[in-house]
Amino acid sequence: MKLIDGKQISAAIKEEIAGEVQKMKDQGEKVPHLAAILVGEDPASETYVNNKAKACKKVGFDSSTYRFPTDVTEEELLEAVDFINNDHEIDGLIVQLPLPDHIDNQKVIQHIAPEKDVDGFHPVNVGRMTIGLPSYVSATPHGIMELLMRSRIDTRGKNCVVLGRSNIVGKPMSLLMARNEEPGNATVTVCHSKTQNLAEITSKADILIVAIGRPEFVTADMVKEGAVVIDVGIHRVPSDKTKSGFRLIGDVRFDEVSEKASHITPVPGGVGPMTIVSLLMNTLKAAKREIYG
Ligand code: GUN
Repeated sequence: MKLIDGKQISAAIKEEIAGEVQKMKDQGEKVPHLAAILVGEDPASETYVNNKAKACKKVGFDSSTYRFPTDVTEEELLEAVDFINNDHEIDGLIVQLPLPDHIDNQKVIQHIAPEKDVDGFHPVNVGRMTIGLPSYVSATPHGIMELLMRSRIDTRGKNCVVLGRSNIVGKPMSLLMARNEEPGNATVTVCHSKTQNLAEITSKADILIVAIGRPEFVTADMVKEGAVVIDVGIHRVPSDKTKSGFRLIGDVRFDEVSEKASHITPVPGGVGPMTIVSLLMNTLKAAKREIYG
């Protein structure tokens, strides 16, 4: 079994990006700039946004965070998005989700200029990705494609089963794996909560991508010998073996599945570290006007 080391791969990509930024600086160009809108004081969102700012700093990007109180109106938020859309200094914009209930998430996302939508959530980017046009691809599926490519996993003609059909992971993942490009060219099956005979389907997968959001849902009996297993799940569970009193586990029973898999992503240290790096890659593309010209 080979571990697909997201920590190592993401560190290598960060170095590549830092090198690109240095070249841009040397040529007197503006460095990429990522802006984030953060509403309220949700600790998880705070952490995400802080980690994004730290990652920007590490590779030499500029970053800024626009903070709003929980009771911000939708109109105020849309105005802020407009302001950033029109600010030529800023290349990429993310609106940290979830937003408070009184705000229509889709309305805000659809207000972001598609050429600055480095989260790849705007329907224009989703649509472009679907028909194979250049687009920003959302962080998790983008990160998984990088992991597959950099680990030289052969996906062509393989049976790929995607567990989960969310808009930001399962759905785009299935489209990317089926596209006529490599990684891709796989025969894709999408499974979800209503799928019957799930284990029968997953055990035929050469590549199994698990984004079902249930701790250690995938067990060894559901996995084909020699399969490539990508675990998107991340769950905090109590543990008496760690100082912090908790540990992180995925959607896959790593101990038993790793005995059968040819390649597997660990949790933590697999898909997770790739997501911020994907956002950095998209922001670099935005600064270089690679998608929309
Ligand atoms: N909240 C959790 N993950 C994400 C993400 O990738 N992007 C945004 N904007 N919000 C999130």
